[in-house]
Amino acid sequence: MVVEYIRYTIDEARADAFEEGYRRASSSLDDSEHCLRYEVARCSEDPTQHVVRIEWDSVEGHEQGFRKSAAFGEFFALVNSCPHKQGPLSQGIVHGDVVTCPLHNWNISLRSGNALGSDEGCVPTIPLKVDAGRIYLKRSAVLSPRAAEVSVLEAGAA
Ligand code: FES
Repeated sequence: MVVEYIRYTIDEARADAFEEGYRRASSSLDDSEHCLRYEVARCSEDPTQHVVRIEWDSVEGHEQGFRKSAAFGEFFALVNSCPHKQGPLSQGIVHGDVVTCPLHNWNISLRSGNALGSDEGCVPTIPLKVDAGRIYLKRSAVLSPRAAEVSVLEAGAA
């Protein structure tokens, strides 16, 4: 068994949204046969510090089994404008297939562009494909008037 620690510095005002988003996005860890258990912890002395602790069955299980699986390393493209007040989603925190907007902590699905939870709104998604290590965006979607700026984000919980 190997243990992975990932440290995040999250503004205190965004910490609850980060934890909720991580909880929602952790299905890729739940589904991985290589992940034995995981936890997200907030430092009591400094609430801006979070640690994600993941136990993997082996280095190979983590690096080859999980990181090379379909659940990891999936790319999404969205118009870089939050449906709330046009916050820059490219500067948000990605957890699983969700991005948390840096301005007011709305959680946006990378798959659908929809705001999650009780928030309402949608940001256009841009179809893409990955081929030989390159990301290709659908040209007509990128050229649409709403897509003044596009953000490409990589999903993944760990
Ligand atoms: S602009 Fe994104 S949550 Fe407000």
